[in-house]
Amino acid sequence: MSKITVIGAGNVGATCANVMVQKELASEIVLLDIKEGVAEGKALDMMQTATLLGFDTRVIGVTSDYSKTADSDVVVITSGIPRKPGMTREDLIGINAGIVKDVAQNVLKFSPNAIIVVISNPMDTMTYLALKTTGLPKNRIIGMGGILDSSRFKCYLSLALNAPASDIQGVVIGGHGDTTMIPLARFATYNGVPVTSILDSETTNKVVADTMVGGATLTKFLGTSAWYAPGAAGAALVEAIIRDEKKVYPCCVALDGEYGQKDICIGVPVVIGKTGWEKVVDFKLNAEEQAAFNKSAEAVRSMNSVLKDMNLI
Ligand code: APR
Repeated sequence: MSKITVIGAGNVGATCANVMVQKELASEIVLLDIKEGVAEGKALDMMQTATLLGFDTRVIGVTSDYSKTADSDVVVITSGIPRKPGMTREDLIGINAGIVKDVAQNVLKFSPNAIIVVISNPMDTMTYLALKTTGLPKNRIIGMGGILDSSRFKCYLSLALNAPASDIQGVVIGGHGDTTMIPLARFATYNGVPVTSILDSETTNKVVADTMVGGATLTKFLGTSAWYAPGAAGAALVEAIIRDEKKVYPCCVALDGEYGQKDICIGVPVVIGKTGWEKVVDFKLNAEEQAAFNKSAEAVRSMNSVLKDMNLI
């Protein structure tokens, strides 16, 4: 059976681990945090739900002891600071970039073959940073943003349609930012029927707008960024890797000409399996969607340039 490590035992990391233990995705899940005792406490708390929820996964919590993460198949990076109300994901770059770079290097010392899932924000830039600083093959670095944004898109569509979310398909590509993500309304369906043929354009536009600020809306309510959907979305991605599912999920990956972009990590639909992301799926964007994607890529690229200014890459 597999081993999974989650770096950062805060709201998102602990929720992600908790979903994964309940799905028994691994025989061992290690939670690591820099804050003394937090990961140990949350891991033990989770283990004590084993007989109640019916799983046998062992959960181990450690404070900065990377040796305990050795030989992990997948490592999920959630360490860093979350958004506060009024902040964009991009505002976090100064602090999170240093943390993510450091964490990725430590992880690989003990798990040189791991697939790395990046959740820390600004996620597109953190994924690019992990790719550039670890030198890993591009298929082993996957940023988690599009799965979450798509899940929010489907949630808002289900509310607008008064239909179960599981009957709805919808994909969000582009950057994982309030102004950079692109909910692809044209491709969204309700059991195969285009939602644009059911909802009027005003309602569709509102769903798209609500999706784009989905995270910010929650940050306003909660005073910090959300965790249930981000944690579950991270777990869904890990599940697709561990179980070699070959699911198509929108993920932040390194492009080399696909969707007209190069030298960037940004959200596109990819096939996920045991070797990481296996291939990019071409959705054949129309001119308007491609223009939005190019604009999104420019915004992500300008954020990435901060990494150079900070001498991190
Ligand atoms: N090594 C390990 N853990 C660290 C480090 C580090 N160098 N630096 C910070 N952490 C830990 C913190 O101690 C904290 O427990 O990361 C955890 C982050 O948890 P929260 O503050 O609860 O933040 P959370 O809501 O989980 O968000 C984490 O995910 O969705 C993104 O934008 C969000 O970037 C943020 C990240």
